Amino acid sequence: MADASKSGKSVKATSASAQTLSKAVGLAAGPQPATEPAAQLASAPAIPAQPPSAKPKRRSRKGVIAGVVAAVIVVVGCGMWVWHEQPGFCNAFCHTPMDPYVETYYAQADGAATDKWGNAVTQVDAMMAAPHAQAGVTCLDCHIPSLEQQVGEVREEITGGYDYPLQEQTIKALLQDSGRTGNSDTMCLASGCHDVTRSDLTGLTADMPRNPHSWQHGEIECDTCHKSHRASVLQCTQCHEDAESELPSGWVDWTEAQRIRITADETAR
Ligand code: HEC
Ligand code: HEC
Ligand code: HEC
Repeated sequence: MADASKSGKSVKATSASAQTLSKAVGLAAGPQPATEPAAQLASAPAIPAQPPSAKPKRRSRKGVIAGVVAAVIVVVGCGMWVWHEQPGFCNAFCHTPMDPYVETYYAQADGAATDKWGNAVTQVDAMMAAPHAQAGVTCLDCHIPSLEQQVGEVREEITGGYDYPLQEQTIKALLQDSGRTGNSDTMCLASGCHDVTRSDLTGLTADMPRNPHSWQHGEIECDTCHKSHRASVLQCTQCHEDAESELPSGWVDWTEAQRIRITADETAR
């Protein structure tokens, strides 16, 4: 699915850049590979005096070099692509903005941790990135950035033209930024992810006295409560005091979540 098309794209891009590069260094100065055998056939009988080995040999050496260079480019290109898929890629260059996100992702299982804004989180699973990391979900499984977006991020990293801490996104905004549509259902209730419906979710937490997935007041976005890189929020506590007693471990109530958010906004530059 998405992966196949991604790697398909990368292979195309890689061979295109291989051609451009070998052209640039003059390795493909001879005829294009596709026409080369025909050219050889035509020229061989026309110049019988020429030592039969000389020209083809020179050509084939060039061919070998071009082949090796192309192979190296493909291998490096694929290596880059595989690396690009790893969480470590995100903060390899963009240390300042990305380190806290990578840390939430790799936070030690079953313990306390620190959120993207430096706040203590008493139970790491309250940040969606961490349990998803343990389930083998990568940054790019959740964040499927468009090419323009990645180019923009590189530009911002070089010019420093980004807010720090980064502005918190919503799932809707993340999808829109990468040229897609949809909401948290599109992102989370997907095959390969949570292959369930909203009413299945209702059943999963039916044992909670004030079932957060009851959709009592209409369907709300998953990221209203489930936060990926900071403690999740039981939104119902904004109005229902009794919901305080069912805060899952590491989660915060609505008031605390507001405080955390406002403090982060105040420190943003
Ligand atoms: C389980 C899915 C998931 C994984 C895995 C994940 N993220 Fe996120 N990320 C989100 C969601 C959803 C948001 C939107 C904010 C929120 O709801 O917490 C987000 C927001 C962000 C933002 C935008 C700024 C902000 O605070 O909203 C950045 C940057 C980011 N993630 C980086 C990363 C990096 C780097 C990794 C891997 C180390 C990663 N994410 C792994 C789901 C994920
Ligand atoms: C009103 C807040 C809220 C909203 C909105 C919400 N959840 Fe939850 N969700 C919770 C709480 C609270 C739990 C219990 C977490 C725990 O016990 O650690 C939970 C648990 C879960 C679980 C684990 C269930 C289990 O016990 O196996 C999944 C999966 C889940 N939510 C997915 C979603 C998805 C997908 C959405 C959006 C369609 C969503 N949630 C929207 C609050 C919410
Ligand atoms: C903005 C305030 C507000 C929020 C947030 C809120 N509720 Fe309510 N809720 C109310 C009010 C007011 C009532 C009583 C009036 C009514 O029945 O509509 C109510 C009624 C209910 C009822 C009917 C039974 C009862 O206790 O009166 C349930 C069930 C419920 N809410 C569940 C939830 C859940 C689950 C959440 C979180 C996903 C939530 N509510 C979030 C304000 C809120």
